[in-house]
Amino acid sequence: MDKFILERDGQIDFYNKFLPRINPSLKPEDLLADNNDGVLNGNLLEFKLHVTDLNAHLFQCIRYLSALRIKGKPVPANILIVDVNSSTLWLFRSKPYLKHIEVPYTGAASKGTGGFIGDDAEKVLHYDNPSDTEEVVSLLKETGYTKIHIDENCIVGWATAYYKAVPSARKEDFIGDDTGKHKTIGEIRNPVHFAEYIHPYKGQSNVKFNYLMDRLNDSLQKKNLGAFYTPEPYVKKSHELLRMAIDRVPEGNDYVIIDRCAGTGNLETGLTDEELSHCIVSTIEYYEYKVLQELLGAKVRHIIPPTESSDTFNAGLVKGSDALSKEYIEHPLIKQYVDDPNCTIILFENPPYAETTSLEHQRTGKGTQSSVWKNSYVVQEMKKEIKGSALNDLGNAFIWSGFKYYLRQSTDSFIVYSPVKYWKAQHLISKKFLYGFAFNRKHFHTNIDACVMCALWASEDADIKEFTIPGYDITPEGKLDNPVKLQIKKINKIFSTEYYDKRSFEASSEDGILIGLNGLEADDNVKKRIKPIYSDDMLGYLVADSIGFDNPDAKSSLLVAGRYNGNGFFMHKDNYLEKLPMFCASRYITYNRRWTERARIMKSADGVDKFNADVKSGKLTQFLLKCLLFTCMEMQNHMRTFSGSDGRFYRNELCLDRTNGETIALKDIKTLKTNKKEQDILKQWDTVLQWAKKTENYNSELTYGVYQIFAELDTSHTDETTGSTVWDNVELHTALAGLKALVKEYYNSEIVPTLFEYEFLK
Ligand SMILES: C[S@@+](CC[C@H](N)C(=O)[O-])C[C@H]1O[C@@H](n2cnc3c(N)ncnc32)[C@H](O)[C@@H]1O
Repeated sequence: MDKFILERDGQIDFYNKFLPRINPSLKPEDLLADNNDGVLNGNLLEFKLHVTDLNAHLFQCIRYLSALRIKGKPVPANILIVDVNSSTLWLFRSKPYLKHIEVPYTGAASKGTGGFIGDDAEKVLHYDNPSDTEEVVSLLKETGYTKIHIDENCIVGWATAYYKAVPSARKEDFIGDDTGKHKTIGEIRNPVHFAEYIHPYKGQSNVKFNYLMDRLNDSLQKKNLGAFYTPEPYVKKSHELLRMAIDRVPEGNDYVIIDRCAGTGNLETGLTDEELSHCIVSTIEYYEYKVLQELLGAKVRHIIPPTESSDTFNAGLVKGSDALSKEYIEHPLIKQYVDDPNCTIILFENPPYAETTSLEHQRTGKGTQSSVWKNSYVVQEMKKEIKGSALNDLGNAFIWSGFKYYLRQSTDSFIVYSPVKYWKAQHLISKKFLYGFAFNRKHFHTNIDACVMCALWASEDADIKEFTIPGYDITPEGKLDNPVKLQIKKINKIFSTEYYDKRSFEASSEDGILIGLNGLEADDNVKKRIKPIYSDDMLGYLVADSIGFDNPDAKSSLLVAGRYNGNGFFMHKDNYLEKLPMFCASRYITYNRRWTERARIMKSADGVDKFNADVKSGKLTQFLLKCLLFTCMEMQNHMRTFSGSDGRFYRNELCLDRTNGETIALKDIKTLKTNKKEQDILKQWDTVLQWAKKTENYNSELTYGVYQIFAELDTSHTDETTGSTVWDNVELHTALAGLKALVKEYYNSEIVPTLFEYEFLK
């Protein structure tokens, strides 16, 4: 009879038997990374209840090893396949299979493993007998690795591993080569840290990695260079705009196409030799420059600097190529064309993207202060003309300086990749829009589904309020998807100036409490930015901050008292209903995650006059009640009921729990003329509450909203055997999931259209 019915039990039994002999401090779960059955020293282990086909299991292991290589992890020298029921272990070495390991595979490693034929196992051990057991112990202590070759598939993984292992390392320390004037031989060519794991890379230059140069940057460069390369299908599409610009060149004129931030020259790939002969390219990063030189140097009109000299390498950057420096703007090679009235200037650029206030930027560093580019000449000059948030975005410095220093005649053009915010909300430029496309930012070596515009602007002033562009995603086959029509509308007014309630309460004190994002009292150690106001007329605190949807949960809060870091306003009981559309609008991205929405749709107060008039006339009464229903059912409404440290009892009034008497929301919602969707939601809410009341943690003195139920009553624990999450109250968990689905549908069908109509969303 089988000893084990579950493979995992056999696996844990094996580890419990052997780990104390290898390293007593290790636990089975310490070995389980990367979706395989475990890596222990120089061994990859694969467990089976019954080994049925060694070739198939071996191939599965090869696929795991392939994944390790791609992630920049050492490839163990040994492959151990274990039959847990017969206590048998087969030893293979990985080296003979290197050719197969160095292939990238897609899909699950355990699928499609048929047809592979490997060699016989080097050894078969039966670890139910003592001498074989000792041999297994020796094997598990081995620390050998099979050296792999660096190529385009794995170099990013190894770069990440390298910068993690050597935090002070710069890009040259990783990919430096022997060509050019600056000769640092990097880790890939002369492995020191990874000497046991990788073969030296034999490629003379780094040209093979041209599409990956942005991902090989060290973290400091990532922050300051904002390099996100353009994928090829988008490059090709934007050539349509470039050719439209070339068509605008007046008869008899010469023209130049300037790309000040060319990287390794992606945007120029696929241009004809004639077009290339009009290009002037440069880039700030040294290894990009070298690849750019190798790929395009002979074809373009100019590359800056034209050749490398002994002082070109300057701490990883290229001397003289900083497009934001005065020296660059005055560079005679470019200036001769700008000064020539018979030459048309076309800028064609995907500027570096580094918005210092953005979440992704802050995650990687200290945010605003540490950005070198902010001290540049261009930004200093820009500050004289531009105020506000536009100064926080590196890409804006390129756009602004492009128009300022290069474009002069109405037939000059600027084709620029950038999220639409610079035009839509920051009003950085007011130029004539000729044509453009929307692209999915995810394909620019990021993980974010968001909209990036590639626009063709004429060097001509124009007051445009909106335009429509086709948006293209990229299919898994690497082709442009069918276009969708996307409207881009300018925004003039924002929530905080038009809609935030700035009245003070008739009677209030400053001895209340402040709340954290989770709806409970804020920790003592967080920096408090507002006064802890309390008033009997206070319904709560609403934050619907920032026009965009970066970090939506931190920018949208509904709490029983002031949020510790402010950015919102205190809601008054007398008019809270008309404030709720702001909260509803701030949830848009959560329910509309398509790439076309983020960074295109924003929050606006442009419809304020119409909205206020229609609230006054009563036309919007039912809509406001719909917003109330949504608000009561929405998980980001973090109002909770609890006793505050100020001795007051805070009750969530924006929920529909009548256990302790009517809440304000319950009183108001009576006048909602409910339709079928609303009746379904209310019914589902009853179900949620009914199950909530049966949970162990339920406190009948509290008034619960959806979030408090989720946070305090829908508890779970981890199953010790399977490692999976087990919900303590399955019915409650199910009911909450059901409610969520109804709320999402309700929001998109009943709330969103009106939010657009009144330009809360635009
Ligand atoms: C978004 S990438 C675009 C690269 C390439 N044109 C493409 O579209 O794939 C921006 C490039 O600008 C470069 N860069 C960043 N700051 C720069 C500066 N101040 N001057 C010149 N180039 C800069 C980066 O090294 C990076 O290669």
